[in-house]
Amino acid sequence: MAKTHWHFPRTEFAASVLAQLANGPLQGVSLFGPRRTGKTEFLRLDLAPLGQAKGHRVIYANFWQTLDSPLAILLYEFDFALRRCSLVERARVAAAGMAPKFKLRTPDGAAEMEVDLAQLKWGTPESHLLLLDQYCARFSNDKKPTLLLLDEFQELARAAAARPLIAALRTSLEKRKNGLAVVFTGSSQEHLRIMFTPKQAPFYRFAAEFDPPRLDLTFVDHQLAALHASSKVEISRADAVAVFERFGRNPLFMQRWLMTRGLNAELSAGEATERVESEVALEFGFADKWRRLTSLQRAVARALAERVAPIFGQVGGKRIAMLLNETPPPPQRTQAALRRLVRLGHADKWDTDWRLTDPLFESWIKTRPDSDF
Ligand SMILES: Nc1ncnc2c1ncn2[C@@H]1O[C@H](COP(=O)(O)OP(=O)(O)O)[C@@H](O)[C@H]1O
Ligand SMILES: [Mg+2]
Repeated sequence: MAKTHWHFPRTEFAASVLAQLANGPLQGVSLFGPRRTGKTEFLRLDLAPLGQAKGHRVIYANFWQTLDSPLAILLYEFDFALRRCSLVERARVAAAGMAPKFKLRTPDGAAEMEVDLAQLKWGTPESHLLLLDQYCARFSNDKKPTLLLLDEFQELARAAAARPLIAALRTSLEKRKNGLAVVFTGSSQEHLRIMFTPKQAPFYRFAAEFDPPRLDLTFVDHQLAALHASSKVEISRADAVAVFERFGRNPLFMQRWLMTRGLNAELSAGEATERVESEVALEFGFADKWRRLTSLQRAVARALAERVAPIFGQVGGKRIAMLLNETPPPPQRTQAALRRLVRLGHADKWDTDWRLTDPLFESWIKTRPDSDF
């Protein structure tokens, strides 16, 4: 089954981001969205093709879980773009599958250079940073700025080893204010802001924050039409809308639910929901993550999932005590449990509130029985 017709185009938003970067005063835009809410699809299937259609070169790099090798990822993607492969071909060769050592063509095309990932773990060779600057020079185009799409950029804020890369990247970009434009996405608002907001931030004032528009019911209608195109199954719009709302308008859940119904006409709406819930939990390892948490960490996670606020105040304490069936823990213990959730990547600050980072994990946590705490 071809899957492209399942993509819900975000045309207007892509056009407005591109217009700002191509014709407006901005060199950088940052987009925050929780995990699995469509950032990568937006970059690859909306923004990149639009940019290419308007004559921009587009380079995409994803930094998710690349703590040891973000510089290598970036060089690898530049090299790939230099070979003039299209982004579609590129999608087939995941950068994550890089060999431990690989060769890059230098930006002038005259020589090759070997990158050794093991070596990058321990330091950032000057020669690689120089190469980064040369690639930036090579791709810079004042008439049609090249678009750099840096996905999950906040990961660099977590990696001390990435500091020289971050500094070098900023310098290389500053030198090409009109020739290179950047979109940064991140699934941690806190970490993304650490990159852009404080005075001493490495990318201080480099990017303007844009809010990706929230998906609405036109998404559901589009997905229902996609289902109809691939499997003639008719299902109730009201059921689909209910699932969409119940799972926080999550595009992944909605799409999986419709596909499941398309493939299994015998399942009722509720049965399909249960099936997708358990498939998603298995795929993303929710039970394993849960098993590694203490009772108190679980209770704090549950309270966050229920958006109990303030989590350290009386309301939070009461809810946590109820879940644990004991007296409210002192705030320091709740704080320690929350810090652990943050370190594990499960929780994060959104504006002034603490929230779980993965909306699907959040939904799963809400269905845990009392005996789990
Ligand atoms: N525009 C869209 N149209 C249809 N489905 C989408 C769209 N955006 C996201 N999805 C669904 O959500 C899933 C997660 O999207 P993704 O872009 O990987 O999220 P993120 O990068 O924010 O973690 C996709 O695999 C797809 O199933
Ligand atoms: Mg992504």
